[in-house]
Amino acid sequence: MANSSETAITPAPRSNENRSTTPGSAGFKAYISSDWAERTEVLPPAREQAPFAAARRELLSAMHPGQRLIIPAGRLKQRSNDTDYAFRAHSAFAHLTGWGSDAEPGAVLVLEPTATGHDATLYFRERAGRDSDEFYANPDIGEFWIGPRPSIAQVAGDLGVPVRGIADLTAVLNTIDNETLVLREADPHFTTEVDEARLRFAAEKVLTTDASDSPFSVEINGDHSADEQFARGLSELRLVKDSYEIAQMRLAVAATGRGFEDVIRDLPRSSTHHRGERLVEGVFNTRARSDGNAVGYDTIAASGPHACILHWTRNDGAVVPGDLILIDAGVEVDSYYTADITRTLPVDGTFTDVQRRVYDAVREAADAAFAVARPGAVFRDVHAAAMAVIARHTAEWGMLPVTAEEALLPDNGHHRRYMVHGTSHHLGLDVHDCAQARREMYMDGVIEPGMVFTIEPGLYFQPDDLTVPAEYRGIGVRIEDDILVTVDGPENLSAGIPRTSEAVEAWIAALTA
Ligand code: GLY
Ligand code: MN
Repeated sequence: MANSSETAITPAPRSNENRSTTPGSAGFKAYISSDWAERTEVLPPAREQAPFAAARRELLSAMHPGQRLIIPAGRLKQRSNDTDYAFRAHSAFAHLTGWGSDAEPGAVLVLEPTATGHDATLYFRERAGRDSDEFYANPDIGEFWIGPRPSIAQVAGDLGVPVRGIADLTAVLNTIDNETLVLREADPHFTTEVDEARLRFAAEKVLTTDASDSPFSVEINGDHSADEQFARGLSELRLVKDSYEIAQMRLAVAATGRGFEDVIRDLPRSSTHHRGERLVEGVFNTRARSDGNAVGYDTIAASGPHACILHWTRNDGAVVPGDLILIDAGVEVDSYYTADITRTLPVDGTFTDVQRRVYDAVREAADAAFAVARPGAVFRDVHAAAMAVIARHTAEWGMLPVTAEEALLPDNGHHRRYMVHGTSHHLGLDVHDCAQARREMYMDGVIEPGMVFTIEPGLYFQPDDLTVPAEYRGIGVRIEDDILVTVDGPENLSAGIPRTSEAVEAWIAALTA
């Protein structure tokens, strides 16, 4: 399976070159590169997701006969000066390789066209030998700094795909032609190299053919429509999940449920701290890091009127008894699949009458959305079902200048003042999964078994909204669940996390007793 690299590795650039104290003396170099025990090379069996990734590559191959497909993992992104954000490979790369939290920055998947389909090869920067200063002096990839790195043979066995060293990518770049597509957003630096290779190819072609019939202008003149179409296809490939993905989503939801329990158990502490929202975020983050890779997106811990700010992630407010706290959080497991769940909790364990009225209306909207989230329905109908309930209640409460029926007319939408976001989005490797899918595949697409999406209606009554009766102002409620569509209808993957007002109160009582 493994092909050894034929070309010597060029040293990786070092981010600390100018201030390094590592000796460059011959004596030091000779000494540090000697007397290491032989590595025992354990070749792992292919990981569980390897055959699933292979099947996804087959689907992609069938979409692009005769075209070379390049899907980079991406590389480290600077956070400040010479420190970087934690690496996370592009989701399309993870989908097609099965590599998740252990993916290597700078890796590139190439699908080379053959007479019958494509041959996949994964390129990555193999670990440096102990005779190289990269081993001990490079803080970005040296094993002295970041820990053991796999060999080419180990990655090949683990992912069940042929692997070559990064230096061999040069040969790929040298054969780039007009039938090459690259996922541009994953690694802008590498994409520039691909574009330059395309220009070289076009220049050679124009020299040897009549320029007037040259078909090579499309990707050359800054019009990257073919690459963009490729990116859309990669996004659409993830609309229906396979059984491995569904199992990972269940794990992500279960870990997220444990995170919510941790947060509730800690409410007595967080509600006495002046930045209690930060404590909530920290407690959830501890669960995400202990049970998974990370949070799938920044945790929203929004107490009191902060709940009316849809993506409140500053989280620097107090958690005040008598208020509600809206917590929107998800654990991303090591394979990168993430949950996305919101619960709105009464901080002191009991909803007031008006809080309960709003909460129950949102829950009713969610249940109406569930009822239509069946195979054969159109995705946007899920949102429409929730909106009918939201319009009815906001009209009943005297907030609309028109009837609910009038508000729901296409030219109106008054009720949307209190819920400006959509009810559902696809979920998977990305929290907003498949976001580049065409409208006819997503919002106007037909719901199919294997799709996973959220149902997350809410009501947000801003503290200064004069259309809202005073008792409702400053209340924000969202209830978000993760839905798997089956042939028999929707399965609420997060049903085990209490969601009715009565169940939420009982849950808090049990965990804070
Ligand atoms: N959980 C945040 C969002 O769906 O936008
Ligand atoms: Mn969401």
